[in-house]
Amino acid sequence: MGPRKIIIDTDPGQDDAVAILLALASPELEVLAITAVAGNVPLPLTARNARVAVELAGRTVPVFAGCDRPLERALVTAEHVHGRTGLDGADLPDPSLPLGERHAVDVLIETLRTEPAGTVTLCALGPLTNLATAFRRAPDVVGRVQQIVLMGGGFFEGGNITPAAEFNIFVDPEAAQTVLRSGLPVTIVPLDVTHKALTTPHRIDRFRHLGTPVGQAVAGWLDFFERFDVEKYGSEGGPLHDPCVIAWLIRPDLFKGRHINVEVETASDLTRGMTVADWWRVSGRTPNANWLREVDADGLFNLLVDRIGRL
Ligand code: BDR
Ligand code: CA
Repeated sequence: MGPRKIIIDTDPGQDDAVAILLALASPELEVLAITAVAGNVPLPLTARNARVAVELAGRTVPVFAGCDRPLERALVTAEHVHGRTGLDGADLPDPSLPLGERHAVDVLIETLRTEPAGTVTLCALGPLTNLATAFRRAPDVVGRVQQIVLMGGGFFEGGNITPAAEFNIFVDPEAAQTVLRSGLPVTIVPLDVTHKALTTPHRIDRFRHLGTPVGQAVAGWLDFFERFDVEKYGSEGGPLHDPCVIAWLIRPDLFKGRHINVEVETASDLTRGMTVADWWRVSGRTPNANWLREVDADGLFNLLVDRIGRL
């Protein structure tokens, strides 16, 4: 069996960038394209930052810019977490890799129509606007997706951008609802998992001690990125969200979850973007997602250090 074909849809963000590095360093995966979406920072910066990560990895995967705002709402960004550029913490040059000329949504649609049905996995690391736009515009491609793995939501941990909602789902709840109602196999990496994958000082030092430019950059990013959550939660490190999506594809044995029903709140202002996860299966609603809850954090960081050390 050859490597699994994936498209990474992303809004980098330091943790998105580490996820991209992990994917590019892993022979189990073939990254067909990276599609940028507005989220942590506006679209021109996420499209730039994705190319910074690709170039840092020494690869030439094509990067395309997609939707610059959510389906029905104004864009909310997170510079308070990720810094003004979205990738604060490492001093890296502007990328020379040109941005692809096509719109990311067209790339998603065309790739899914061209590749054999059921062979492309979509990895979503930001608001789900690009994916939902592709599914709404070209319903024929939905059934051609192998599966979706996304970082978003939270149930036992509550939210991070509001008490009820996690950032990616909060920014575009209608898009998240479209994806969750697509009928596709969806695996969700929520805050319930990522709040157990903490970037402790020791773990960050492991990247620094790789002694490579990539290791230095990752350590710088994580130092910057963790300060917000360490202050907020009083934890030993920040949650390393998005790399868990890629890690699950490579080492699903590091995670545990349940197949349950998950719905997204789109009507209420108070709980906008809340993921109502029926962990205890009390709603009678049909399960539509594999909701992860546990991670072997040491195993995750061993994987990350090993793979990023290869770049
Ligand atoms: C998610 O929001 C972003 O800030 C991170 O990149 C991650 O995708 C965590 O809530
Ligand atoms: Ca992200």
